[in-house]
Parts: sequence; structure tokens; C-alpha cells
Amino acid sequence: MTTCNNEQSPSTAPSIEVAAGSGVCFGVRRALELAEMALAEGQAVYCLGALIHNPQEVARLAGKGFRVISSLDEVAAGDGTLLVRSHGLAPDVVAEARRRGMRIIDATCPLVRRVQTLAVEMQQAGYHVVLAGDEAHPEVRAIQGHAPATVVVGDIEAARRLELAGRVALVSQTTFSPEEFREIAAEIVRRDLAEIRVLNTICAATVDRQRAAAELAGRVDVMFVIGGRNSANTNRLAELCGARGVETYHVEQADEVTADQLSGRRRVGLAAGASTPQWIIQAVCDRIRALQSPPR
Ligand code: F3S
Repeated sequence: MTTCNNEQSPSTAPSIEVAAGSGVCFGVRRALELAEMALAEGQAVYCLGALIHNPQEVARLAGKGFRVISSLDEVAAGDGTLLVRSHGLAPDVVAEARRRGMRIIDATCPLVRRVQTLAVEMQQAGYHVVLAGDEAHPEVRAIQGHAPATVVVGDIEAARRLELAGRVALVSQTTFSPEEFREIAAEIVRRDLAEIRVLNTICAATVDRQRAAAELAGRVDVMFVIGGRNSANTNRLAELCGARGVETYHVEQADEVTADQLSGRRRVGLAAGASTPQWIIQAVCDRIRALQSPPR
């Protein structure tokens, strides 16, 4: 459970509430634990792309010898371990790393693995697989690596343009918007197709986190959404909170919170993306408490 630990405050003190489910999800936590275990063995550990969309946590791991790379060519032959991050990787990339002598630790989130498996099974069963997601997202690219004929649609407009025939199976990126998924599913279901299967593979942790953040945003005076600016799910949380009409600030770290942002605000809400560790949430809580404390 995510908490905002603070000293006992008088009932008149401004309140800080953290939205339920904020912070690192189970898939990212598992990947971080596997990374820490490999680093503890004293090996060089490499990751293709950021393990976690949080610059502060990436910097902390880098201090222990964790290396983010953009190509296997950056690694000397036979050197170290490749950690497959929670987004997964295409099988040919993993095979190439093995061929180069790297040890593989697979931290693909089990929920992402499920989408990969479903896409492969559906394709093998003769379905045209449609994936609702962002085609540039690494999770989506990895799913396409497993099931290459998968067609990606990013929004309802793209779904309307799709030419489909025969049997179709719709799946989704785990962090896709549930509302947009429903729209896309409705668009496909109304088509005259031989068979349509709609497999909602959106991660429940994402849905619950978004719902809790939006609910909290509806009853506070100001919201702070904590997480990497390159984190799609954090940006989405900020969007949802802002849409509730409350002043919303997306911050990566505690020192971005200012006294001006808190001025006159008694109820403060916090939410954090799936890549935001508890220590950063706590640092933001501490910063808000410090700024709220009247000068002595
Ligand atoms: Fe997995 Fe859901 Fe996190 S898919 S990586 S538990 S956001």
C-alpha cells in the first residue's frame, strides 16, 4: 500500500492524501527486484531501453552498475546479463543476445506475457489480430515481434480505417485507455465479420490507479502527479486529474513542488505512475509538509 508517512498533525493542518494504488506496480517491482538480484551477483547488467520510466530510479541503479543500452552492439561479446524489462522484447532480439553469449533474465511482466501469448495463439488459430495500442511503445513492438502479423490501432479513427475480413481477435496494450478500448471494440463488433473475439488485456492495476487518482482529484484543492515525464501512464494520470478541473502539477521529484503551488490549498492530493518508487512519493510528501509548516 502506498502511504504518505508524516508526523501526527493537528486536525486543522492541511491534509495530504495519496491515491490508492499509486506507485510501482507489481510488474515493475518484480523487474526491479530481478535487476537488484543480478547486480548483487556482481555482474554487468544491461537493459535495452529504460527499465523504469523514472530518471531518479534509473540513476540510482546506474550507481550499482546497471546499464541502459539502445543496441546490443554496445555490449562486448560474451559480456554480462541482459535483463528483459517488464515491456518484454521480441524473440529475435533475445535470441541474438543469447547468440552473443549473454545470460538472459526475463522480467517481462506476466500480464504483458499473457498478451504476447494470446496474440500468438490467436494468429495460429487463424484470427487476424488487432492490437489497440501505441505502435511506438516498446510493449507493442515486442508483441508484434512475437506475433508479426498483428495490426496496431492507436485510436478510434485508425480503427474506422481498418479493412477487416474473416475472423478477428482484438487485444490491447496493457496500459491502454479502457474508454478508447471500448470505442475500438464497438467499432469492430459492428462490422460484418465471420467471428470477432474481444480480449480485454488492459492491466487492472492501471485501471484501478487511474480511477483512484481521478476520484481523489475530484475532492482536493490541488493534485501532484509524480513520475517521469517520459512515462506514458504518468502523463495519462495527470491528464485525467486535470480533466476533473483541479489544478494539477506533474512533477518528477520533490524540489519541483513550490510554495506558490500550495498557496491557499488545504487539501492536497498525490498520485504516482507505475514507475514511481515509494521513496520519491515520500520525498514529495515531506516537501509538501515542509512548505506547509508555518515559519517559526
Ligand atoms: Fe504489468 Fe500492469 Fe505494471 S501490465 S508492468 S503490472 S502496469
